[in-house]
Amino acid sequence: MTIHIGAKPGEIAETVLMPGDPLRAKWAAETFLENPVCVNEVRGMLGYTGTWRGNRVTIHGSGMGMPSLSIYANELIRDYGAKTLIRIGSAGAMQEKIKLRDVVLAMTSSTISTPSKGFFRELNFAPCADYDLLEAANAAAKSKGISTHVGGIYSADVFYDERPDLNEQMTRHGILAVEMEAAELYTVAARYGCRALAVLTISDHLLTHEALPSEDRQSSFSDMVEIALEAAFP
Ligand code: HPA
Repeated sequence: MTIHIGAKPGEIAETVLMPGDPLRAKWAAETFLENPVCVNEVRGMLGYTGTWRGNRVTIHGSGMGMPSLSIYANELIRDYGAKTLIRIGSAGAMQEKIKLRDVVLAMTSSTISTPSKGFFRELNFAPCADYDLLEAANAAAKSKGISTHVGGIYSADVFYDERPDLNEQMTRHGILAVEMEAAELYTVAARYGCRALAVLTISDHLLTHEALPSEDRQSSFSDMVEIALEAAFP
């Protein structure tokens, strides 16, 4: 057990899918895994371990924002031996060409700050995805007929953003979408020699102000779980 995860040693798989919402972790585990067992309930941050096509997988919530994700990613890697971590989540589109429900695969993530900023000091570390996971996720999405965009995203610290000028600069510099977790996931994974990827569905559009209805959020979440599983076990 760690401070935030109640699983016993050996109860977490080497491959972990991380949705932000713990109830989505429960739903995904019960829908896609064989014999899912709940391995964490501390603070309601649910985690389940089961198998997918014979491969052990854990699906564990990350919570919202980089400080929350950082706690779980650190403990999953350092204390439980996780090796491949795939975030599955939603993001807001920052380019006209990107439509609601499209999938964005985050090759890199720009930030103002991550929980790791404190020790990097003057260094601007460039968080980036694992290439093999990225390529496999792109192939999996394409085989399902899902439109994908691969490139840089922005991991923000705030959802209620007071800096429209900064979003404009992101759009000008080709950033595809905004979410709140990937940069720290990539940074922590890099620190421990692990593989990481963020598979994101566009739930809202910062330029057109459209948003996905809740039924569509559920089906696009389901697509992301399948893409992530196929990327982890191609
Ligand atoms: N901003 C930050 N995070 C998000 C957004 C957004 O617009 N949409 C989904 N996650």
